[in-house]
Amino acid sequence: DWNSGNVIAEQVERIRAQVGSARVISALSGGVDSAVSTALVQQAVGDQLTAVFVDHGLLRKGEREQVQQDYVAATGVRLITVDVADIFLDALAGVTDPEEKRKIIGREFIRAFEQAERDLVAEAAADGQPIKFLVQGTLYPDVVESGGGAGTANIKSHHNVGGLPEDLQFELVEPLRTLFKDEVRAIGRELGLPETIVGRQPFPGPGLGIRIVGEVTRERLELLREADAIAREELTNAGLDHEIWQCPVVLLADVRSVGVQGDGRTYGHPIVLRPVSSEDAMTADWTRLPYDVLAKISNRITNEVPEVNRVVLDVTSKPPGTIEWE
Ligand code: XMP
Repeated sequence: DWNSGNVIAEQVERIRAQVGSARVISALSGGVDSAVSTALVQQAVGDQLTAVFVDHGLLRKGEREQVQQDYVAATGVRLITVDVADIFLDALAGVTDPEEKRKIIGREFIRAFEQAERDLVAEAAADGQPIKFLVQGTLYPDVVESGGGAGTANIKSHHNVGGLPEDLQFELVEPLRTLFKDEVRAIGRELGLPETIVGRQPFPGPGLGIRIVGEVTRERLELLREADAIAREELTNAGLDHEIWQCPVVLLADVRSVGVQGDGRTYGHPIVLRPVSSEDAMTADWTRLPYDVLAKISNRITNEVPEVNRVVLDVTSKPPGTIEWE
């Protein structure tokens, strides 16, 4: 039967066999999947691992600090932070197509790791062990939805599966490739990761970049980051974190609607709330959130976030809607 202790022991063996004495770098994103896959690899090969956190400018409020402080405190992993927000935003300038955004973000992600590798190379050369492996927190549903499973169509290019550049110079280590989210959480707890990390709701690798319908700009990211922080804060305050699977907050940047605030007419953007309930993200239903919580979120976002004058609720199940809007 399935048992997190067995899975850990089995994966640790596999990782050791795959990696040998080479060095490994890991894609730490702040999410559960990368946290657990990184902790597994750390368990397997210890100091051969360096975790790399890419601040691509598409993060939510407080995420960078959560990784730099909480995760490091819990694991003692060696962490390097790469600041590449300007590169990502330049690469995304003028791009509105969702698949193109995903491919660009995926490509730039890998480039950022390659840059990190170059920064680490002198150090690695000192012990004669080049960096040959890259850890990714790919889950079974990611594999299936990117067309990796038998007979499945490509629905969306998940950046951690599709969209890798042809000149990729790392071999991938993907210890979660056969697992579902609840199994990954069980493994994380077994590995001693704190609940603030293991209990985190899923957040897509391409980040807020695929939650802005339209071109991604610094100003729009700031609006969305604020709106998202408000929604998350109110859901947590209402004790609803375990009722919902996740709640994407989406900025319809190319849509404007007329509103009124104070004495004046406004012409601002809508924010979409997409609370969903799910077992594994393959299917989902929209969560029937209490009206008073929705009202509070709506009032706060329209009052506190400039340029947002309307909050709407997505009441679509998956299928036919996906969880993310892009
Ligand atoms: P969709 O929108 O396909 O999302 O219903 C299913 C789940 O996957 C998350 N998601 C991603 N996770 N990289 C990830 O690591 C991605 O590119 C990606 N796209 C979607 C999404 O948040 C949901 O939990």
